[in-house]
Amino acid sequence: MEACYLNSRFAKTLGKRRVIARIFALISIVTLVKFTFLTEIASDKYSIGKNNYTGARRCITRNVSEGIEVNTKAVVMKEVAQHLKGKPHRGGWAPIDCKREIKVAIIVPYRNRPENLSIFLRHMHNFLQRQKRNYQIFIIEQSDDLLFNRGSLLNIGYKEIQKYDNFTCLIFHDLDMLSEHTSVGYDCIKSGIIHLSSRLSVTNYTLPYKRYIGGVLSISPRTFQKLNGYANTFWGCGGEDDELVNRIEHNGIKLYRLTESMSRYHCLSHGNSEQVYNKNRFKILESSSSRYSLDGLNDLVYDTIEASEGILFVKISVSLLKLRSLIHKEFDI
Ligand SMILES: *[C@@H]1O[C@H](CO)[C@@H](O)[C@H](O)[C@H]1NC(C)=O
Ligand SMILES: *[C@@H]1O[C@H](CO)[C@@H](O)[C@H](O)[C@H]1NC(C)=O
Ligand SMILES: *[C@@H]1O[C@H](CO)[C@@H](O)[C@H](O)[C@H]1NC(C)=O
Ligand SMILES: *[C@@H]1O[C@H](CO)[C@@H](O)[C@H](O)[C@H]1NC(C)=O
Ligand SMILES: *[C@@H]1O[C@H](CO)[C@@H](O)[C@H](O)[C@H]1NC(C)=O
Repeated sequence: MEACYLNSRFAKTLGKRRVIARIFALISIVTLVKFTFLTEIASDKYSIGKNNYTGARRCITRNVSEGIEVNTKAVVMKEVAQHLKGKPHRGGWAPIDCKREIKVAIIVPYRNRPENLSIFLRHMHNFLQRQKRNYQIFIIEQSDDLLFNRGSLLNIGYKEIQKYDNFTCLIFHDLDMLSEHTSVGYDCIKSGIIHLSSRLSVTNYTLPYKRYIGGVLSISPRTFQKLNGYANTFWGCGGEDDELVNRIEHNGIKLYRLTESMSRYHCLSHGNSEQVYNKNRFKILESSSSRYSLDGLNDLVYDTIEASEGILFVKISVSLLKLRSLIHKEFDI
């Protein structure tokens, strides 16, 4: 449901075809520059927060060489809250001994995985508090019976969090991804996007495929708005993040990845729950350029069924029935 990394074989094929097609179609320097958009940079090269704060010292992220233990043991939600050092409120927390002006919204698309949710929240609160982040966690739940639509849920998350705070950084985060490195900066850069989860345990810590940007992505609200968000056209697993790569290239926005050791993520097992893939995703992708400005944040419709504020997260349950009725039949799977 969440991370569709098992998709890689097909996406690889698609990647190659696209590359070849482009080389023949546009032999220009501009195009060649585009191919190198996945620059690997070390995290200290984009360290941010260099402002002078008054009243308190600036937060410093913990020792970079320190790894984090990934704990995948089952836990009940109540215990997660009890064992945290810092006490979150409405899924949010901020350090008191130093100042962190960047407000990070963690946006998680979700449906019916309570066991995984408590493991995820235990990890995330510990992880973000160790980094002394100013953060809030939002779970965006698809409550209808339609196929899972990750892109639309992330678009909805972007719109809904604006009711809660003025966030300066968005982290789109799948529920099954747990960072193995304490110091992976859950931060944003002004002019660019960072793909954080490029080495996955399920693919033996290799990149699932070259254009993969699923899992965990850092993006500023302004950049996300500029892209018109994710496409809403992808029902079922796969496609939406591959299309986002196309949008990123089309807008000339830089995409970064972290160094290898920092981008290692442990993937939670999904048990027996089946992931339904969108069989038409490659066909839909081929026509994506015609929809960048039509399909995304600006044609998003949904109903909020419930919004609730717990200790560990804010949950926003939505129905996509209205959106579904707008999407053309040719995109059905
Ligand atoms: C920050 O503060 C230091 C010392 O108080 C000062 O020297 C420096 O110019 C300040 N930097 C900015 C960008 O204001
Ligand atoms: C960082 O952590 C490593 C391993 O835990 C330790 O050996 C090293 O001394 C620490 N460095 C600092 C500056 O605290
Ligand atoms: C965001 O900031 C503006 C201007 O500072 C303020 O008026 C508004 O209430 C803030 N919104 C939220 C949700 O905090
Ligand atoms: C996983 O990667 C390691 C290091 O590159 C390699 O030694 C090992 O054989 C790989 N395992 C599998 C199952 O591919
Ligand atoms: C995640 O949830 C699924 C079903 O909800 C379960 O089968 C699986 O074991 C869980 N994964 C972990 C690591 O607990």
